[in-house]
Amino acid sequence: MSKNFRVLASVAMAATLAATTACSNTRDTEEASSGGSASNLVGIAMPTRSLERWNNDGAHLDGLLKKAGYTTSLQYADNKVEQQITQIENMINQNPKVLVVASIDGTALGPVLEKAANAKIKVIAYDRLINSTPNVDYYATFDNYLVGKLQGEFIVDKLGLKDGKGPFNLEPFAGSSDDNNAKFFFNGAWDVLKPYVESGKLVIPSGKKIATEEDWKTVSITGWKSETAQAEMDNRINSFYTGGKKVNVVLSPNDSLALGIAQSLESKGYKPGADYPLITGQDADLANTKNVLADKQAMTVWKDTRTLGDQVAKMVDAIVKGGTVETNDTKTYNNGVKVVPAYLLPPVVVTKEDVKAKLVDSGFYTADKLGL
Ligand code: GAL
Repeated sequence: MSKNFRVLASVAMAATLAATTACSNTRDTEEASSGGSASNLVGIAMPTRSLERWNNDGAHLDGLLKKAGYTTSLQYADNKVEQQITQIENMINQNPKVLVVASIDGTALGPVLEKAANAKIKVIAYDRLINSTPNVDYYATFDNYLVGKLQGEFIVDKLGLKDGKGPFNLEPFAGSSDDNNAKFFFNGAWDVLKPYVESGKLVIPSGKKIATEEDWKTVSITGWKSETAQAEMDNRINSFYTGGKKVNVVLSPNDSLALGIAQSLESKGYKPGADYPLITGQDADLANTKNVLADKQAMTVWKDTRTLGDQVAKMVDAIVKGGTVETNDTKTYNNGVKVVPAYLLPPVVVTKEDVKAKLVDSGFYTADKLGL
């Protein structure tokens, strides 16, 4: 998608929303189609500012909704669950029409969302599913299972595993165990890699066993923290990679972990080039995109957060106007109480060869920012 088209799309998006919002104001006061409140307030709860993408997500959605005439309350919760619950409670007290929530712990919001439901406030789960409650109305995200599948297929392809190449030393990592997405990312990758682990073409020197459905949690990194991933990688190298044994491939579910893992490898003497491990990633964070260009990370799965914001802004608008909320998956995301109707967006693999075509030409980054 070219940069000009992308900009035009955002402007068009805001204009469409603005047009319909303008007319809805009048209608709302008369009909109050969704939610008791006459306000035009939308509450936006984001998990943290310390993980790069959420800053983009929050700013883009907030900007779109404001441009469309909504009032917004955008809050970041420093990856602290209690802080997020308090923020959502405060939003509810301001009587919003809709709450958009990117949860920290998807299982911790049942009680506060019951208050939202009692106040007839609609809830959209943003990127991460909210579990164990009936009080979430819609879900918008990227195809999380496909993110992992793309990482697994990339590893199989690059290592030539289909052609019988190997064995290779693999170290698997998974995301934060309180994040519903982490399971989907891991399962998407592991469903591809498992046959090669079983055939011995992929060996895990650290002995991490992934036998049961829940075993992904044995390699999960809490809070998606780079420094925790770095320490874990240091530990595995110190303990299991002696006598010249080399790490050949690292399954990293996202970029914040990949950054810590790359720093650990570098500190252990690994240099980009022949024996540098293949590391996967997700989010196309700035530092990681530069690492991809510098051969310190082999790929990242890009999720254009602008398209997620656009989709959620459309959902908010449809809810406020009593229109039809667009969804394209009404099967996959059972949150333990119900299947939440979802809209899934496509993730895209980015490698050194297509950073410019995908990230610069679409306007996600300027060439200057990437040092291109
Ligand atoms: C996931 C999200 C990923 C990644 C990670 C850490 O839920 O889908 O894009 O950002 O959180 O923030």
